Amino acid sequence: MEKNFKRTLITTALPYANGPVHIGHLAGVYVPADIYARYLRLCGKDVVMIGGSDEHGVPITIKAKNEGVTPQDIVDRYHNIIKDSFKGLGISFDIYSRTTSAMHKETASEFFRHLYDKGEFVEKTSMQLYDEKANQFLADRYVTGECPHCHNERAYGDQCEACGTSLNATDLINPKSAITGNTPVLKETKHWYLPLDKWESHLSKWILEDHKEWKTNVYGQCKSWIDMGLQPRAVSRDLDWGVPVPVEGADGKVLYVWFDAPIGYISNTKELLPDTWETYWKDPETRIINFIGKDNIVFHCIVFPAMLSAYGDNFQLPDNVPANEFLNLEGDKISTSRNWAVWLHEYLVDFPGKQDVLRYVLTANAPETKDNDFTWRDFQARNNNELVAILGNFVNRAIVLTHKYFDGKVPAAGELQEVDTAAFAELNEIKASLSANLDTFHFREALKDAMNIARLGNKYLQETEPWKLAKTDMARVETILNVALQICANIAVAFEPFLPFMSEKLVKMLGMGTIKWEMLGSSSILADGAQIGAAELLFEKIEDDAIQAQIDRLEKTKEDNKIKSWTPAPQQADVDFDTFMKLDIRVGTVLECQKVPKADKLLQFLIDDGMEKRTIVSGIAKYYAPEDLIGKQVCFVSNFAPRKLKGVLSQGMILSAENADGSLVVCGPTGPVAPGAQVK
Ligand code: 2FM
Ligand code: ZN
Repeated sequence: MEKNFKRTLITTALPYANGPVHIGHLAGVYVPADIYARYLRLCGKDVVMIGGSDEHGVPITIKAKNEGVTPQDIVDRYHNIIKDSFKGLGISFDIYSRTTSAMHKETASEFFRHLYDKGEFVEKTSMQLYDEKANQFLADRYVTGECPHCHNERAYGDQCEACGTSLNATDLINPKSAITGNTPVLKETKHWYLPLDKWESHLSKWILEDHKEWKTNVYGQCKSWIDMGLQPRAVSRDLDWGVPVPVEGADGKVLYVWFDAPIGYISNTKELLPDTWETYWKDPETRIINFIGKDNIVFHCIVFPAMLSAYGDNFQLPDNVPANEFLNLEGDKISTSRNWAVWLHEYLVDFPGKQDVLRYVLTANAPETKDNDFTWRDFQARNNNELVAILGNFVNRAIVLTHKYFDGKVPAAGELQEVDTAAFAELNEIKASLSANLDTFHFREALKDAMNIARLGNKYLQETEPWKLAKTDMARVETILNVALQICANIAVAFEPFLPFMSEKLVKMLGMGTIKWEMLGSSSILADGAQIGAAELLFEKIEDDAIQAQIDRLEKTKEDNKIKSWTPAPQQADVDFDTFMKLDIRVGTVLECQKVPKADKLLQFLIDDGMEKRTIVSGIAKYYAPEDLIGKQVCFVSNFAPRKLKGVLSQGMILSAENADGSLVVCGPTGPVAPGAQVK
């Protein structure tokens, strides 16, 4: 049975403030959450949308160490970038706060203390990995090693990203400290555990019996966790960055980031609504919806609900957790560390005024049921073939014709014919489907419904052809354009949750004032005789060069990554000094340099070797223009047995270093030396 809800609390996963947000975050969490919040607001519902940055956890401290700054510097930098870019994209948080706020520290601390005082934790002493050189315990990502399940050698202490298994640091084979590279030792330490096993039957009933309507990916993951049997989970860590464990004798220990982060939803609600926040969390007539990505399911469906249940005091569990799968980029997994992403703050600079295009493409491709792919070509095609050609085109035609025939005044509806009433009937069918899809978190389908209104508009103009009737039946033209303009007004309403920038522009153009969802389907949103504004283009074509620039940037990232992930060739077997000395390496000055005819790889050098001039041929023509090397000093093996290359006798070998991409750089002394000097 559907509960009767008085209000909705929407939470959005708090992104880690160790990097900017990218299209994967947006498609998975923030765009769908924003669509839903905007929809409910248009319906006149009481709704609050909570966001904020997740500012604790090991990755932030590692980044700070690598950059030689404090963790606070890191989170200040990214919190601001993230917050501004969300605003730029029109993500309509009622609050976007952060887990380093005083309110959060106090709330998280009190939450822990309350559970501690109630005896909800189990205290356990265990052996944990410790880096003797860095004098610290190695929590989570401070350890890397081999995954015991799939044998990926770069698994982290909390998770193997190759097989997705969540791990304990002590599970890793051949663990290494991420701080010093040392092999850690085991050392005793005390932590607090939340006994999830205690809540197993409660959670099992709540999810597996009472929430069969949840998305299959979410339900399935919960079922498999519960079927495996829930285990106690440590909720503290030996670290110096986080909310201190508020218990005597817990020096050097902080709350585990996954314990404090979801409490951030509560802290941020408190910050937003100091007097009424409790009704949003504790009144059964509030509906809580958590928007997250699939990697967060266990924390939102098992761990946080267990925490809330342990707290008691009527804290409500989420009504739904519509988690999405992942969005890939051009066929590859999005990765912050490999810079394989489209970063929101960069997009907003590269495509100013095109926020809705990104929102449209990410919704049309949302990874709702399976992982999906973003490609720049698809982005361009959806803009040009759908937003410009279908949506923008219809609205533009209706408004231009109104100006042409009626000086921009909404003509009277007059008497409707069958084709007109049929259009409104279809519009109402679309509205029913659109609302149902939004109510059930099917945003891709909902967007298709909204686009069908624009398709309907185009079809209507195509069928009625007002431009042909203008000479013979102006009364009919009035009706047709009235209907077309009413469809435009419906578009402004239907698209507000998806494309708020376009909707706002259209609302202004049509002089609509405040819009409400209940207007949708109406044939009389615009009053007869009302003045509408000039036709402005809602979308513009995106040309190939803008897209190519983005594709080139990704290509460059790929090349950079190849170099970064390159490992040098294995070392050759040892040689003794005498063997080394058999190689007579010398410095020579390049006197002449030219291409070898009919050999595109070869350059022919004339070298001053201190005694005479000798010819050497070298396969570096792809990497140097001959004139760039004249006058340079190079190292060469002077006793390399002479051989003929393309008919030229080469007397020696010029030494070059090989880059990861195979390109060659000639080696020479770093200061001037006399030609003929030996290299030893
Ligand atoms: O996966 C993540 O990016 C986490 N920072 C999400 C936290 S969600 C909530 F619990 F705060
Ligand atoms: Zn693995």
